Amino acid sequence: MPAEWIWRNGEFVKWEDATVHVSAHALHYGSSVFEGIRAYATSDGPAVFRLEPHMRRLLNGCKVARIDQPYTVDALSDAVVETIRRNNHEACYIRPVVFRGEGALGLEGRERTKTEVVIFTMEWGRYLGQEAIEQGVDVQVSSWRRMAPDTHAALAKIGGNYVNSQFVSMEAHDNGFEEGIALDVNGYVSEGAGENIFVVLDGVVYTPGAWSSILLGITRDSVLTLLKDLGYEVRFEPIAREMLYMADEIFFTGTAAEITPIRSVDRITIGAGSRGPVTKAVQDEFFGITSGRLPDRHNWLTYVRQTEPGD
Ligand SMILES: Cc1ncc(COP(=O)(O)O)c(C=O)c1O
Repeated sequence: MPAEWIWRNGEFVKWEDATVHVSAHALHYGSSVFEGIRAYATSDGPAVFRLEPHMRRLLNGCKVARIDQPYTVDALSDAVVETIRRNNHEACYIRPVVFRGEGALGLEGRERTKTEVVIFTMEWGRYLGQEAIEQGVDVQVSSWRRMAPDTHAALAKIGGNYVNSQFVSMEAHDNGFEEGIALDVNGYVSEGAGENIFVVLDGVVYTPGAWSSILLGITRDSVLTLLKDLGYEVRFEPIAREMLYMADEIFFTGTAAEITPIRSVDRITIGAGSRGPVTKAVQDEFFGITSGRLPDRHNWLTYVRQTEPGD
């Protein structure tokens, strides 16, 4: 469900008024940088998960894409909090986006287009469904590869990169799978269309590094911290495709997908075909912290509700 108010270039406008001209540069050439963030419901009101790292990644992406914009990490973080308050969300998905707007056509958009900075929110449940969190999803290895490192900038969340993700996702759906996994240019496992991937084999947890053209996910980073807390060994290595089939457990991580087990790849059952113990242990920590049931020991949450004096 859409929200009532959208933050646009420092001002609040109504959802229906936040329109963009058909000549907008980003619409033609993918010149946008965006974020996806979640605010979780807690007994102390909505809490935004890892707001600052998301905003830093946004501004780093703008640097890579050479999109100048006037706001600091702090100013954008404040704007997110204000947007959630104004829309009275208990929990929501937050989409900040910086893009080259209208002005002129032509690839070199820097001089002649207007940059816009927008934050909008919406209510959005489990991306792959509640059942997926418990039962896992069936996925395929995509025939589409991730971009080679010297083509797009995989570490930056640039709109144009997501044509690749759409191909991976649509192919998977057309073939009856819930999601697709792309290999990198060398044929090693990269990531899902919009999720990072973790593979558990013989008690060790493997995940690809930046060399495999992944987005360095903030959920991935949080899960790495939780795995360390739980005492698991993690290895950052190129992952061969067949390692997926041999794995005891595989799970996706992402703001949208949260922590979702994978129960089959290319119709081959993974482990016991249900959520494994490592996945469950990490989920328990992750959902415990984001719901406020467990202490926020890594300071990951930004509470939105203003406390009254004396509270
Ligand atoms: C391609 C891709 N990989 C991984 C992720 C997971 O990143 P995060 O955990 O920061 O949401 C996302 C989602 O933003 C993504 O789009």
